[in-house]
Amino acid sequence: MNDRYIGQVPELSVKRADFPTTFAWGVATAAYQIEGAAQEGGRGESIWDRFCAQTGTIADGSSGLIACDHYHRMPQDVALIVAMGVENYRFSIAWPRVQPDGEGAWNEDGFAFYDRLLSTLASRGIKAHLTLNHWDLPQALQDKGGWAARETCACFVRYAQEVAKRFGHRLASLVTHNEPWVVAILGHQDGIFAPGLKARSIAFQVAHHLLLSHGMAVAAVRKTHPNLQLGIVLNLSPIYPASASAADIAKAKLDDGYIVRWYMDPLFKGAYPQDVWADLGSDAPIVHDGDMATIAQPLDFVGVNYYTRNFSSSGNPWDVRANAARVTDMGWEVFPQGLTELLVRLHEDYAPKALLVTENGAAFVDELKDGRVVDPDRLDYLREHIAACADAIAQGVPLTGYFAWSLLDNFEWASGYAKRFGLVYVDYNTQQRVVKSSGQWYADFLQGR
Ligand code: FCB
Repeated sequence: MNDRYIGQVPELSVKRADFPTTFAWGVATAAYQIEGAAQEGGRGESIWDRFCAQTGTIADGSSGLIACDHYHRMPQDVALIVAMGVENYRFSIAWPRVQPDGEGAWNEDGFAFYDRLLSTLASRGIKAHLTLNHWDLPQALQDKGGWAARETCACFVRYAQEVAKRFGHRLASLVTHNEPWVVAILGHQDGIFAPGLKARSIAFQVAHHLLLSHGMAVAAVRKTHPNLQLGIVLNLSPIYPASASAADIAKAKLDDGYIVRWYMDPLFKGAYPQDVWADLGSDAPIVHDGDMATIAQPLDFVGVNYYTRNFSSSGNPWDVRANAARVTDMGWEVFPQGLTELLVRLHEDYAPKALLVTENGAAFVDELKDGRVVDPDRLDYLREHIAACADAIAQGVPLTGYFAWSLLDNFEWASGYAKRFGLVYVDYNTQQRVVKSSGQWYADFLQGR
C-alpha cells in the first residue's frame, strides 16, 4: 500500500480508464480567491474589495488583498498543476484588473498578467478554461447600479468581446458567469455576499440581467469566434423533500424551480418557470421583448458546480439537513449519488450538448505536520464523486470533464481563510504550498496508478 494515503485503504474502484480518453481532467480557481495584489498593476476596486472592508461581512475579518499571492507566484502555481499531471485549468479573469472601471480604458498591465498565465499554461501543455465573471464586478459599475442595472449587460458584452479578441484563440473554453444564483440570491437577497443587498425584487432583476448578459455575450463572441466552446456555470443542487408530507413535496418542487429551473429553463426553453414566476409576485423581474430569445443561445456546454444536496420543508427551507453520516467543514452533507442523479436529470430534461463538472470538492480541517498534509476525508470525497461521474456517463450523460475545486486553499468568500478546499495546502504566513494526500491521489489517479 502506498504510504502517501495514510489513514485509508486506497481501493481504486474508479479508474481513469473508465472514462473516455477525451475526458477533460482539471482543477479550478477564481481570481479574487487566489490572486491577491488587489491594489497592484493598475487593478481597479471590485465589489468584493468593498464588501470585505465592511465590518462583520467576512468570518475572520479577512479579504482577498493578498490571498494566495498567486499574482506573484503564478509560474510556481502552474508548476503544481503540472506536477499533479492535471491537463486542464479553470480560472477567472478579474474584470477590474483588465478594465478598472468596468467600462472605458483597458488596463494593459492587467491583460499582461493573463497573457503570461496563458503562455505558461500553453508551454506546459495545459488547456485553459476561462471564466469572465466569477463575482468580482468592478465597484465603479456597482456605483451605477451593478447587475441590477440593464446597462451593465452592455458593459459585460464589451468586456467579453475584448477578452475573446485578445485570448479567444488560446482557450479551450470560455464561460460567461459563474453561479448566477449565488450572485443574485446571496449577494442581493440575503446580503451575505457582495454587494450585500437585501431585496428579493433586486435579486431577481439581477438574475435576469446575468442571464441576459450571458446570452448577449455568447451571441457576440460566437460571431467572431465560431469555434470557441462557450458555456455558463451553474450551481445546481438537487433538492429533496425533508419528509413525505404533501407540503414538503410541494415545497421541494418550488425550491427546485428557484435553484435549477429558474436558470435552466430560460437557457434551454426560452422561458421562466411559471410556478416560480407566480410565487415571486411583484418581485418578478422586468423582462423586455426579445430578452428570452437572447438568453436561449445555443450553448456548447453547461458547467455544473456540485458540492451537496439540499432539503426542503414547508417550514424552514434551507436549514433542513439529512441525518447525514458525513458532513464537510462547511456543514455540507457528503452525497455523491446526488451528482449522478443531477447529471442524469439535466440530460433528460434539457439535453445540453455537453455537461462538465466545473467544480467539486470539500473543505475539511487540514493540518500541516512534518511537512505533510494527510486528508483522507477529502480524498474519499473526490474518489466517490469521480465514481459518481462514471455512473452518470454509464447512464448516457454526455459528461466531458471534471474539475476539482480547488487547486489551492484560498479565500473562501464570507468564510474567509478558515475553510480549506485545496488539493494543495497554503500556509498563509509563508505562502508555502504543500500538495495534500488528496492531491497526490488525484495525480496517481490521472496517471493510471
Ligand atoms: C462555489 C464557488 C467557488 C467556491 C466554492 C466552494 O460556490 O463558485 O468560488 O467558493 O463554492
